Amino acid sequence: MEKPMNKFSVPASELNKQKEYTELVRTVLSSRFPSGKPRAFVHTYGCQGNVADGEKLQGMLYEMGFDFTSDVNSADLVLYNTCAIREHAEDRVFGNVGALKPIKKQNPDMIIALCGCMTQQQRVADKIKNSYPFVDIVFGTHVAHRLPEFIYRSLCLGKRVFETADSDGNIVEGLPVKRDGTFRAWVPIMYGCNNFCSYCIVPYVRGRERSRDFDTVVSEVRSLVASGYKEINLLGQNVNSYNKELTADRQFPALLRAINEIEGEFIIRFMTSHPKDCTRDLIEAMADCKKVAKHLHLPVQSGNNRVLSEMNRHYTREKYLSLIEYAYELMPELSITSDIIVGFPGETYDEFKDTLSLVESVKYTSLFTFIFSPRYGTKAYDMDDPVSRQEKGEWFNKLVALQEKIAGERTSSMKGRSYRVLVEDKAKHDGILSGRTQGNVIIEFEGDEGLIGSFADVRVTNPRTWIVYGELV
Ligand code: 5AD
Ligand code: SF4
Repeated sequence: MEKPMNKFSVPASELNKQKEYTELVRTVLSSRFPSGKPRAFVHTYGCQGNVADGEKLQGMLYEMGFDFTSDVNSADLVLYNTCAIREHAEDRVFGNVGALKPIKKQNPDMIIALCGCMTQQQRVADKIKNSYPFVDIVFGTHVAHRLPEFIYRSLCLGKRVFETADSDGNIVEGLPVKRDGTFRAWVPIMYGCNNFCSYCIVPYVRGRERSRDFDTVVSEVRSLVASGYKEINLLGQNVNSYNKELTADRQFPALLRAINEIEGEFIIRFMTSHPKDCTRDLIEAMADCKKVAKHLHLPVQSGNNRVLSEMNRHYTREKYLSLIEYAYELMPELSITSDIIVGFPGETYDEFKDTLSLVESVKYTSLFTFIFSPRYGTKAYDMDDPVSRQEKGEWFNKLVALQEKIAGERTSSMKGRSYRVLVEDKAKHDGILSGRTQGNVIIEFEGDEGLIGSFADVRVTNPRTWIVYGELV
């Protein structure tokens, strides 16, 4: 029986229309490139959610008849899948787009396309329309599944395409996926965000929170595991509110338990958890499920209650610390990581010191630290921000130094112990591999390349702050 449509689902008729465009583009490309396939250069910026989108864009391009290249100079199509989280991310994209101008001069048939969170903002789409006339296609986050149509309009009708209308968002199932990895897979379980943290652009560019169907996710993971994937990353801006309008047996802790039941040796990771929705149920499910990595990424953003309230985070330092305490009680080996913003508008040095003391007491494995970046359209953009960039930089350095000390203490306690790691890659030097523990610590060790993509037991011999050295057991 066919499942009832979710109000966010894109109807099959719309996807069929895109399949027709795919065929049209394929036919045109095969006559324009009779002796080989055209090549696409696809680059994704930003978070894993964007990486997952990028893999679908690649899947659609592949079906249209494109091959892929890592050399932008020889590409027939360049697609930048952009990020808007901080100003720096946007500046990088503008720089890279500007650098395409002389390349396109050499190769006027090259199609240049931009999509993702940055182009979902009207202000950015307008700037590209007016100041970057060599960009052919610009589309936002809500219409990415229409890539075949956009390429058709550019390639066959010679029109510039701008499709960035705002929307609450949708859920598109059944798109082709061309994954970058062979043993690590990204699986979005929900899209969008309803939280409107006052500094964050995401709710404006990704629409409202919506969850994929529980059984669809479980069967996707089952088939990934069957085809050899060893690490499943469940993704969402706030996985703890997965299916929150449904009953507990369809919510995130239940999803973890259901995926944990799938046969085979693999590891389950997830991100991101919002502390306001992180429940004891979730912590218990993590503790109970053998395949779930004992790693919790729980962004705190600040250790001060006034700042947290200005950030619209809906939890207090005390609530956060009590969750952490419960998590360590159930999983003494748990590795916790976090995101922290330094220099939120109006934050004082004394308030920042509360962040330092929180970091000191949680003992994070690692931190992602950011200096506040004003995002146009968010509430914090208009807040008074009297502290200078230089002063924020000094605070930032203090935080980084403190975390370095804590990370060093944590890794030195690993000496002599063995860890089961998923072997991921060659390290920079010959014959050395790198693997990642459940807690997301990288261990480098000597071994045969054939081990890449499988699990191995490694004993730590020489822990350093950021890289831990070990040997195969
Ligand atoms: N400035 C600085 N950091 C930000 N983040 C999100 N928005 C901003 C901003 N405007 C950080 C938060 C979030 C992470 C993904 O990026 O810490 O958790
Ligand atoms: Fe941004 Fe907050 Fe949503 Fe995370 S939870 S995406 S920080 S608004």
